[in-house]
Amino acid sequence: MRTYFSFIKRHMDYLKTEGIESLSGTIKISGAKNASLPLIAMTILAKNSVSIKNLPQVADIRTLLKLLSNLGATYEFQDEKAVVDTSTLTQTKAKYDIVRTMRASILVLGPILARFGHCEVSLPGGCAIGQRPIDLHLKALEHMGAHISIKAGYVEATAPNGLKGCNIIFDKITVTGTANIVMAAALAEGQTVITNAAREPEVVQLCEILNASGVKIEGIGTAILTIEGTNGKLLHIDEFTIIPDRIEAGTYLCAGAITKSELTLENVNAKHLSAVLAKLEEMGSRFTITPDTITIHPSENIKPVKIITQEYPAFPTDMQAQFLALATQADGTSIIEERLFENRFMHVSELQRMGANITLNGHVATVYGKTQLSGADVMATDLRASSALVLAALVAIGETNIHRIYHLDRGYDSLDKKLQGVGSKIIRLKE
Ligand code: EPZ
Repeated sequence: MRTYFSFIKRHMDYLKTEGIESLSGTIKISGAKNASLPLIAMTILAKNSVSIKNLPQVADIRTLLKLLSNLGATYEFQDEKAVVDTSTLTQTKAKYDIVRTMRASILVLGPILARFGHCEVSLPGGCAIGQRPIDLHLKALEHMGAHISIKAGYVEATAPNGLKGCNIIFDKITVTGTANIVMAAALAEGQTVITNAAREPEVVQLCEILNASGVKIEGIGTAILTIEGTNGKLLHIDEFTIIPDRIEAGTYLCAGAITKSELTLENVNAKHLSAVLAKLEEMGSRFTITPDTITIHPSENIKPVKIITQEYPAFPTDMQAQFLALATQADGTSIIEERLFENRFMHVSELQRMGANITLNGHVATVYGKTQLSGADVMATDLRASSALVLAALVAIGETNIHRIYHLDRGYDSLDKKLQGVGSKIIRLKE
């Protein structure tokens, strides 16, 4: 585990590429960040030490583990797994200094409230890609009997008589909102039915593990989840392995497509990537797929594409920036509409500085290809925008320096090393 200071030092790193790359070989995909976060929060519901395999080595995981240890839990890394023990967790206030660095900290609200009957979590505050409210989380918890108030920037939640199962209908599909309520419902009294639940693979894995731990859940993978709570009884949770990161995998598939390189991804589940694979096929790529590998056979000419981001199983918003970079290399005009977040086009201005020809009109980006990109100094603004800049740098003429890559470190495990492993000259340097 890196110390906090080395984490700070890594803040000032940047990535340098030298220009057009051709890649080849195999990349091992890490565990899913967005599955790991709710599953780490889920350990708050356990009476035993929980062993988690295949956790990705990314900043957001370190942040959430640090938050749990600030609350009194303990964790240690043994070989390739983390063992989290929340039996010593006594604090129920998740403080601003940590929550502001990772809004997914809100995932501790449901479990802590369900277990202890009270919880304070700092409001996450704004985020680069959008306002990202948590009103749906709070409304659902109130419906389950919690008293919620907002004081001095904190959500204060109490449920002195415990949470009661009930019918929850989400006005919008919310991934962490669904995870939060599933975890709260796990320890509630009686049955909770969640309608309009998120169906992302990361939510599915959370439900599957809770179901295997004695919380009867029906409708897993569908928009209607029925959860029988244990009425406050803590769970025994057996060791489990985090599913592969479908967004990391999609990002490397785009690396293969944009550099016209044949790449094989290992430890990946193609079933979680149907919409992404379909769009890459529309753009000309072909694939060889086995139960845990995907090989991309890229086309010489990339075709333009129309993309609308929507909830799973439709095309994921977390792949929008990467496809926008890829679309700059397509022969023709691509249209990319972002429907989930109000400000998720910050990569556009940086790509334009590399020569991309893109016009923005509200939530719709029109990308005129093919443009030869030129290397430049560019700045990462958010996690997935950073990976879009890496993809553009792999096909730009001349040197590109990508600054503020702490954004990248939040969700990509050893991206520079993984690309070096398939022949890229990309290197990580200190500012
Ligand atoms: C999760 O964020 C992911 N993060 C995001 O991935 C991902 O982009 C997003 O889902 C959508 O797929 C994690 O899983 C840790 P939402 P989340 O609640 O749960 C609105 C990445 O790159 N909304 O599904 O915060 C919200 O504003 C990250 O890995 C409300 O209005 O997203 C958005 O428009 C970025 N009120 C929409 O719903 C609420 O209470 C979907 O948000 C909650 C959400």
